[in-house]
Amino acid sequence: MTEMSDGFLHRYFLNNADKRLHKWMHYFDIYERHFSRFRQRAPVMIEIGVFGGGSLAMWKAFFGEGARIIGIDINPQCKVHEADGIEIFIGSQDDPELIERIFSKHPRVDIVLDDGSHVMEHMISSFELLYSRLHPHGVYVVEDTHTCYWPEYQGGLRQPGSFMEFTKDKLDEINAVHSRGALSVSDFTKATDCIACYDSVVVFERRPQGKRQAPATQAMGDT
Ligand SMILES: C[S@@+](CC[C@H](N)C(=O)[O-])C[C@H]1O[C@@H](n2cnc3c(N)ncnc32)[C@H](O)[C@@H]1O
Repeated sequence: MTEMSDGFLHRYFLNNADKRLHKWMHYFDIYERHFSRFRQRAPVMIEIGVFGGGSLAMWKAFFGEGARIIGIDINPQCKVHEADGIEIFIGSQDDPELIERIFSKHPRVDIVLDDGSHVMEHMISSFELLYSRLHPHGVYVVEDTHTCYWPEYQGGLRQPGSFMEFTKDKLDEINAVHSRGALSVSDFTKATDCIACYDSVVVFERRPQGKRQAPATQAMGDT
């Protein structure tokens, strides 16, 4: 458990006797570290990948009163998991029209969690469709990134086009200001505070980046 978590998600998972919920256990600490600041603040969250509907119910309980949880799934049967505060959109995660439809109804989205197909092209397309539209202090999480190493998901170690290689390029983009012109400062550079890489999870934290300063301070009388 991290210092910012109260173990809610662990307990919820272990006590779940309702809709099917399938998560790696070490994800709960990561979620609590990056999502806790949104609790009881009525956030809007998109989770790509609904499956049994259990995770959508978990997010609603975790974020509390007023939270809106939006699920995206390609399987039309997932629609049955709609409930108070939980809305399901059917379609593919890389479909720009679907994403447009969601944003025209919910212009402010605070959190995205990609637990969809885990296929490289889809993960990158979703990121490109969604990241820049997130709230300036929002968070974007991609899970099960172990598929980045698996050819059946278009992955492989250092495979061009894998989401992990895409993420490595984004690390450089965060530092574009210091690249002496090798990289241009992008909208991503200006909008991103940090990227956190865990086993099988990558987190992008948005925060508008100001001009960098490096002033010196010293004690009176020192030279
Ligand atoms: C790992 S499951 C989601 C599990 C759920 N988030 C949970 O924690 O219990 C992945 C889901 O992604 C859906 N999926 C697969 N390809 C997709 C695509 N291209 N667009 C949207 N959803 C997709 C599948 O139908 C499946 O329900």
